[in-house]
Amino acid sequence: MKTVLTGIKPTGDVHLGNLLGAIRPAIEMSHSSQFDRSIYFIADAHALTSVRDPEKFKQHVYEIAATWIALGLDTSKAIFFKQSDIKEVFELTWMLNCMTPKGDMNRAHSYKDKVQKNQEANKDTDFGVNMGLFDYPVLMSADILLYDSNAVPVGKDQIQHVEIARSIAQRCNEYFGEGTLIEPQEVIQKNGSLVPGLDGRKMSKSYDNGIPLWGTEKKLKKTINKITTDSTPEEAPKDSANCTIMELYKLFGTPEQILGLEKRYAEGIGWGYAKLELFEVINAYLSGPREVYNDLMNNRDEIDKVLLNGKERAHAIAMDTMNRVRSRITGF
Ligand code: ADP
Ligand code: TRP
Repeated sequence: MKTVLTGIKPTGDVHLGNLLGAIRPAIEMSHSSQFDRSIYFIADAHALTSVRDPEKFKQHVYEIAATWIALGLDTSKAIFFKQSDIKEVFELTWMLNCMTPKGDMNRAHSYKDKVQKNQEANKDTDFGVNMGLFDYPVLMSADILLYDSNAVPVGKDQIQHVEIARSIAQRCNEYFGEGTLIEPQEVIQKNGSLVPGLDGRKMSKSYDNGIPLWGTEKKLKKTINKITTDSTPEEAPKDSANCTIMELYKLFGTPEQILGLEKRYAEGIGWGYAKLELFEVINAYLSGPREVYNDLMNNRDEIDKVLLNGKERAHAIAMDTMNRVRSRITGF
């Protein structure tokens, strides 16, 4: 039995970078015959390290769920659920905590970065660090190990967390016997080219340069119009090799469309027209999913139903794993 698993943090405003770098590849992987089981969950407990507004918290969980369903995740095949619905993950987190040297957590990138920033600002080393943030890699290890995951698709920033999960599994297998936990492997997208944002840097929430997936057509057009361009005159030939509009166009256009636009660049095209063409290919891609997304957000019972079905299927697996692990670790 080969299992692919990943967690998705429910943070605001999903953008095209998240779609192309994470959501689309994960959905494709769920159709791959390489795996017998795909498990995708909303990592709501992880979001608790920073979110302090329950209304926003809940809204983001629904938004992420609706996003994945609208973009075509087949939830009759893939197991799709909310992390905190499976309480076994917290029991396993505690057991793994007791098997994890504190020093490993001191060395985890996200915590180390925070400490370094504090030191640079002459603040207390642990200023703004809660225990959830410190222990984040162990909860993530429990997510992965609870479902006997083999492959874990993640962004580059998460590789260390999967390595921590693997080393915890190895340690437990040494203490309690082979097969106590399955040792997972990270999967990094090979053609993981970064999607550029409005200002040409990597599209990211932290740079406020994203093109959000959802919203009205009008808003999408307005956002695309904000892409930074140079002051080459309207009719002058344009360089299609070094252009954010073109880079984005290539991610959505057909080969013929791409050739066509490249030709028009060489002939001279006004930036406004180029942006309009970009809007059209992105909008064509998103308009179907947008309708499904809006329907789901107006009918949250449907989302609840999907998540409940996922919860039941995830729980069956979690109970089996915990029975095995609990008996190996505690004798009960
Ligand atoms: P952000 O940078 O907006 O905070 P996250 O760090 O939450 O995005 O990333 C969520 C997922 O989306 C990760 O798997 C990450 O690799 C992917 N991702 C984010 N931005 C991009 C981008 N510009 N290009 C490709 N993939 C991206
Ligand atoms: N930490 C991941 C992120 O910030 C989300 C996540 C939580 C996850 N649990 C996971 C990813 C388990 C893969 C496997 O993006």
